[in-house]
Amino acid sequence: MTAAPHFPLRDGVLHVENLPLSDLADRYGTPLYVYSRAALKEAWQRYESAIAGRNALICYGVKANSNLAVLHEFQQLGSGFDIVSGGELARVLAAGADPARIVFSGVGKQGWEIRQALAVGIKCFNVESAAELERLADIAQEMGVRAPVSLRVNPDVDARTHPYISTGLKENKFGIDILKAPALYRQARQMPGLEIVGVDCHIGSQITQISPYLDALDKLLTLIDVLAADGITLRHLDLGGGLGIRYTDETPPHPAELLDPVFAALQAHGLGHLQVILEPGRSLVGNAGILLTRVEYLKHTEVRNFAIVDAAMNDLMRPALYEAWHGVIPVQPRTGTRTDTYDIVGPICESGDWLARARQLPLEQGDLLAIESAGAYAFSMASQYNTRARAAEVLVDGTQHWLIRPRESVQDLYAQERIPPRT
Ligand code: LLP
Repeated sequence: MTAAPHFPLRDGVLHVENLPLSDLADRYGTPLYVYSRAALKEAWQRYESAIAGRNALICYGVKANSNLAVLHEFQQLGSGFDIVSGGELARVLAAGADPARIVFSGVGKQGWEIRQALAVGIKCFNVESAAELERLADIAQEMGVRAPVSLRVNPDVDARTHPYISTGLKENKFGIDILKAPALYRQARQMPGLEIVGVDCHIGSQITQISPYLDALDKLLTLIDVLAADGITLRHLDLGGGLGIRYTDETPPHPAELLDPVFAALQAHGLGHLQVILEPGRSLVGNAGILLTRVEYLKHTEVRNFAIVDAAMNDLMRPALYEAWHGVIPVQPRTGTRTDTYDIVGPICESGDWLARARQLPLEQGDLLAIESAGAYAFSMASQYNTRARAAEVLVDGTQHWLIRPRESVQDLYAQERIPPRT
């Protein structure tokens, strides 16, 4: 078992930076999401070093973790943002984002969302269908503005990741068939409400190889040639997000391993002037967070041992949804206790409510556990199923800590509900 660098085991206690996680559990209770500012910064710097001196923009994929404090960190570091809803637009603006660095993705943009994004003047709409293109053009014209547009094309490449998070195949709902894209670009050129600015793709998530990106890039370059022959020129090329992180034994590429060949291919193709955009989410936040949880009960049956903890699938959906693997580390590892093989499960009334399976751990009731890699797609996918209040979030810098979202109260959960009169 190895802890992530900003969650070191020191004097027999797992820390976040220079704070014992046990102190945070005492102070804020469990379950608790804990984020390391140094880890966020370090993940950002990996991208920053990879784009140094280049015409490139990193737009953080907000859906991975949309807490205002996290967004503000990235805004301060110079990040742009990739949003997928009017809700995310409101969040990034509240966190201080510059609209000129916001790109808007997603297959189902509604009228009000398009209007708000046009009103603040975002950098680009990544359009995913002919119908959306028409709606966007109509609204822009009605507002007397021109909407900056990229088509999100579907390059039909296999990202070789979990099928639920693979998005660049023909059978996925995402993007526009790359072979149909030239016709749609020509149409877009005729629409007075639109200004063509780029091309976009996003092939999937938790990608641990570079080759699928380069396959997609090849196809985009061919498309750009076809467009150029038609006199359609672009200002940027957006390759989406998707770079993976280490959950267990993966060795995901450094952003430079992706970006170096991309810049080289653009140069070689005479497209050195194109701005390169990436939309990383997970790789900026995933390993900057853990989910702290306490063992409520140990339950030994004939065939299994269960550690029933106070976090559940509503706090971390990924195991239930994708059978995802997350590391589990005792916060104060025991030496005198027998090691058993445990399934780590939550209190929710579903067999799918598990966080980890078959882990060899020396456990006792009351022990604290850190579920690793919970900075991405953890709180942002949390629900209140079983009327469980969503857990608190804490950001740590050295020995300083801030509550960046308090635990919800049980009353919060039904405060807006109304009982109609008896008739
Ligand atoms: N751009 C677009 C258009 C996206 O759809 C996504 C993620 C991203 C960027 C950021 O991708 P990332 O760098 O984080 O891989 N809930 C799943 C992941 C779903 C990703 C959806 N789209 C999980 O927990 O694994």
